[in-house]
Amino acid sequence: MFAVPDNTVALAERPVLRHPVRVALEFAADRDRWRHLLRYDPDQRFSALIDTDGEQETWLMSWLPGQETDLHDHASSTGAFTVVSGLLRETVARRAPDGRAVTELHSLTTGQSRVFGPGYVHQVRNEGPDPAISVHVYRTGGRAMRPYHLDPVAGPVRD
Ligand SMILES: [Fe+2]
Repeated sequence: MFAVPDNTVALAERPVLRHPVRVALEFAADRDRWRHLLRYDPDQRFSALIDTDGEQETWLMSWLPGQETDLHDHASSTGAFTVVSGLLRETVARRAPDGRAVTELHSLTTGQSRVFGPGYVHQVRNEGPDPAISVHVYRTGGRAMRPYHLDPVAGPVRD
């Protein structure tokens, strides 16, 4: 017999302590968890809740070509999203430290992710020729969406 020092024993990991990109990638790779939920809606971007544990929600979304969100943030939520298939373009709107309005474009394809925090204003669109699928993780505030419009001088302004 021998003693095992406490600090060498791997403890069970709390899921909410995982980085949200890691969670999104794990769900993206585990199609058995969401393939039965997947639909394509010709009228609007489709979304379905895959999993929730009270602290974190994981959503599946599908996007036909040209489908998009409005400009929005997720209130107090933090999280991430990962592209499972297809091409999504994220437009991020913010004010630079010097007060200028800044718009950034990010083209995302299979396996690529973006992270967001409170007050992160963005718009997402399927820019590709094919349907797209993505997995989204929201923490602390759930999947709240607050609309914004883009002022060319002031930057993103809450509607
Ligand atoms: Fe969003």
